[in-house]
Amino acid sequence: MPVVRATRSVHFSAAHRLYRQDWSDEKNTEVFGDCSNPNWHGHNYDLDVTVEGPIDPETGFVMDLKLLKGVVGDRVVVDVDHRNLNTEVDWLTGINPTTENLVVAIWERIAGSLSPGVRLARIVLHETARNSVEYSGPAGANIDE
Ligand code: NI
Repeated sequence: MPVVRATRSVHFSAAHRLYRQDWSDEKNTEVFGDCSNPNWHGHNYDLDVTVEGPIDPETGFVMDLKLLKGVVGDRVVVDVDHRNLNTEVDWLTGINPTTENLVVAIWERIAGSLSPGVRLARIVLHETARNSVEYSGPAGANIDE
């Protein structure tokens, strides 16, 4: 049976600041640059969520992308869109909101909420048109049960 991947892309806007509390403002600025502005700044994020599985012979889908949009909306977008990622999202508490850390946290929000027989294959989070981070799940754990 052919196994295919399907991707739904969503968009959200959010504010953040990259910093470590145990570093001075100078060190934070040196490492994180403009993204460490103490008064926050925003990004227009694009998130690509790819699922993988066999094609359902009845629907011809791997997963209805409307359902996938709903999962990503309910589990991620509603919590982060037009929010401050440092202070307003309970599942990001204590996380320095780099694109790397965000993509892993987003994976954990989505991976357990998909249709039966479908697995999360890949997430790409674009922070800007030129910067993105990709995640395909924890090493060695991304195998069908
Ligand atoms: Ni930034």
